[in-house]
Amino acid sequence: MSEQAKEPRGDKGKGPVHVAIIMDGNGRWAQARGKPRLFGHHAGAKRVREIVEACPEIGVKYLTIFAFSTENWKRTQAEVSGLMGLFRRYIKKEAQDLRDRGVRVRFIGDRVKLDDKLVDLMDELELMTAGNDRVHLTIALNYGGRDEVARAAKRLAYDVAQGAVQPKDVDEETLPRYLDTYVLPDPDLVIRTSGEARISNFLLWQSAYAEYEFIDTLWPDFTDKIFTRIVGNYAGRTRSYGAVTR
Ligand code: IPE
Ligand code: IPE
Ligand code: MG
Repeated sequence: MSEQAKEPRGDKGKGPVHVAIIMDGNGRWAQARGKPRLFGHHAGAKRVREIVEACPEIGVKYLTIFAFSTENWKRTQAEVSGLMGLFRRYIKKEAQDLRDRGVRVRFIGDRVKLDDKLVDLMDELELMTAGNDRVHLTIALNYGGRDEVARAAKRLAYDVAQGAVQPKDVDEETLPRYLDTYVLPDPDLVIRTSGEARISNFLLWQSAYAEYEFIDTLWPDFTDKIFTRIVGNYAGRTRSYGAVTR
């Protein structure tokens, strides 16, 4: 396990080190205004900067956001290509600023199905922010928890076949080294906006012991104030990890 993964967890009284967000409700937000769904996605993308900026002040070192799932390809071609265009423009527009504000950006998910131009921009942004450490922003793009575990198992199988790993040594410390998130600590808190109480294939392995917050606010209405309140609530929770603590 990486050094970072051994960082102290957010136990009672402490804030969460890693917060993950399922940014949901863009479509409904737009619909409520009689606008096309993409209008909601644009509004949603604009919320990200404020939430990233709030992190250092409230002690959140890692923020992971779900931008596009492996299931989201089922949407209309117009919405999918609109989202892909939005991701490209977002990276181009925000790259310099993210670097200047000390944000280290990483992407998780399967890049194979993504457009080459988008992948180049993702690689470039990772590279240009690689020296930053103020806040670690991970963007899940074409990400699915099951897909990630399957890809990890495949790579592990290759290592076993080549004799680099012995089958008897495969355990719950080994597999996460093959996950996209191998350098990240597990999320302490997962927030989902828009009132849906499900995890939709997000960080399945990593969230085994995460705390969850499901809130009704639609993602484009999510503010740093709401974020700070939810993160503050977390400190009052007791995480037992299966043991008896009270
Ligand atoms: C979340 O908002 C953004 C993505 C999944 C890309 P939605 O687009 O799912 O919005 P709703 O759930 O339809 O309102
Ligand atoms: C989850 O939202 C994926 C992202 C936020 C990127 P969805 O809107 O796609 O999830 P479901 O379809 O409601 O489960
Ligand atoms: Mg949705």
